[in-house]
Amino acid sequence: MDENFEKDWNKAKEISDVVMEFSRGLVRKGARVLDIADSIEQKILSMGAKPAWPVNISINEIAAHYTPVANDTLVLDENDLVKMDIGVQINGLAVDRAYTVCIGKKKHPMIEASQKAVDETLKILKPGVKVCELSEVMENTVKEFGFNTIRNLCGHAIERNEQHALPSIPNAKNTNQTKIKEGQLIAIEVFVTDGIGWVMDSGQELIFKHVADRPVRMWEARRLLEIAKKDFDRLPFAKRWIKDVPIMKLDLAINELLDNGSLHGYSPLKEQSNAPVAVTEETKFVK
Ligand code: CO
Repeated sequence: MDENFEKDWNKAKEISDVVMEFSRGLVRKGARVLDIADSIEQKILSMGAKPAWPVNISINEIAAHYTPVANDTLVLDENDLVKMDIGVQINGLAVDRAYTVCIGKKKHPMIEASQKAVDETLKILKPGVKVCELSEVMENTVKEFGFNTIRNLCGHAIERNEQHALPSIPNAKNTNQTKIKEGQLIAIEVFVTDGIGWVMDSGQELIFKHVADRPVRMWEARRLLEIAKKDFDRLPFAKRWIKDVPIMKLDLAINELLDNGSLHGYSPLKEQSNAPVAVTEETKFVK
């Protein structure tokens, strides 16, 4: 039994409420994504929590998993559809939330569709509801707006030190009869697009996560593996977070750890037809 589960969740949720509100003030035309991510991550630390992963700032056809690199020069522009995915963790337990902003516009139909779909799904998210029932509400709600969900993206359960636990809750209708249980932490996220509704890996891996302890040769790789476990609690991290390993050695160390299966790397996910994507995500403690 994990006695502190609800206590840690409540604290992470409380801090997440403040951080989400704070973050909205940063997302505007001309802002550097690196500054936005840094400010949010510093805010989380200043409140006594840790970022559960590097702040994801994914623009237009990038659906998820973009996080700025050190010296990133990317700047937000008018009409950018900006997806902010922010995790706050206490003792390895994460609250996972996301929202979308269209720069320079008050409203956007794809943002409305994703918000409505999350709201409707949360209404039926109770002990005993089946995964397929949640997915059906997601897809039906988005279709009513005339858009597609992204069929290969999912909501998910959250466990300590594991941001993507089973069950997965697909954005597309399915026949999964798995029932949600009391006491589970469930992230409901709905991705909306006017494209074909499929994402694929695009470009270099920017986010990494500890998955196993395998023997390593390089000292720096061993050090990085320790950091991934102790400092980042086995949750995802970015290269720009590692301050005490020289950058040349850091790349070699990451490559060794990816090759031997100690780390998993995440590339940005791009909508396959290059269409813009909106997302909304909320995490709920099911009871
Ligand atoms: Co999530």
